[in-house]
Amino acid sequence: MNLIEIRNVHKSFADNHVLRGVNLAVEPQETHVIVGRSGEGKSVLLKHLAGLLPPDSGDVIIDGKHLYKDPAAIKWVRNNVSMVFQMAALFDSLTVFENVAFHYLENGGKTRAELEKKVARLLELVDLPNTQHLYPAELSGGMRKRVGLARALAADPQIILYDEPTTGLDPVTSEVINELIIRVSERERVTSVVITHDMKSAYGVGDRICMLYDGNIVFSGTPDEVRTSTNPIVHQFVNGLAVGPITTGEDEEVKSKAIEREAMSGSTIISRQ
Ligand SMILES: Nc1ncnc2c1ncn2[C@@H]1O[C@H](COP(=O)(O)OP(=O)(O)O)[C@@H](O)[C@H]1O
Ligand SMILES: [Mg+2]
Repeated sequence: MNLIEIRNVHKSFADNHVLRGVNLAVEPQETHVIVGRSGEGKSVLLKHLAGLLPPDSGDVIIDGKHLYKDPAAIKWVRNNVSMVFQMAALFDSLTVFENVAFHYLENGGKTRAELEKKVARLLELVDLPNTQHLYPAELSGGMRKRVGLARALAADPQIILYDEPTTGLDPVTSEVINELIIRVSERERVTSVVITHDMKSAYGVGDRICMLYDGNIVFSGTPDEVRTSTNPIVHQFVNGLAVGPITTGEDEEVKSKAIEREAMSGSTIISRQ
């Protein structure tokens, strides 16, 4: 059974039709990567899985329950799904210990000794042992991301959603994060959904990679299938080519949209080349 299923999901913001009938299936303990250009709707899609954004139409089914329709599903997601945000989003005024233990310090459920043991184990897992007493300002960007990951793991989630985990990091630090995503997936036996525009990261961590383009998943396959795909859209994206179907007509489209906007606002159209 699929742990996560998205069926024919549509989502618009005003006249911006972002998701146009997306279908996706993620098996338990798999790492599923979603790639696509900036602004394609990757974060919007991830928020649908996190219980943060309901679709206009279509279904989001997690652990066999209809999210946004079945109250039990929202509860399940709150208890079992963790999101690792693009920015680590740590609390600056709290120590590493307090950040990682935040869930329990707020909600109770563990003794101080249990919490100390748990936080120590998680910080070791992300290769940051003995950093409990430090504040986020004392950490590098990569270290903050690792603390963010330890915090996401603290609630013992079954699913981890990663939003651009390597964006803004240098290549070496990115590789460290990629290795951690794999380690966490193997040791904690979690199911992971990773969104990224970084193909190196996608190839490195993904069991499956799918590509979001123009509001739809246009391709889904193993890293090898993606690498050798003859789909022209996939080929252009994964090879980072300037010329191809993704960019064809884009200049014309941008121009005609600008002219349309000006016409609507009633201002003069300045002739453009
Ligand atoms: N809350 C929102 N309100 C209005 N528009 C939004 C909102 N969230 C995202 N969008 C729009 O949806 C599109 C996709 O955004 P996003 O999912 O963030 O892209 P990305 O693939 O880079 O993660 C963009 O055009 C963005 O402006
Ligand atoms: Mg995004």
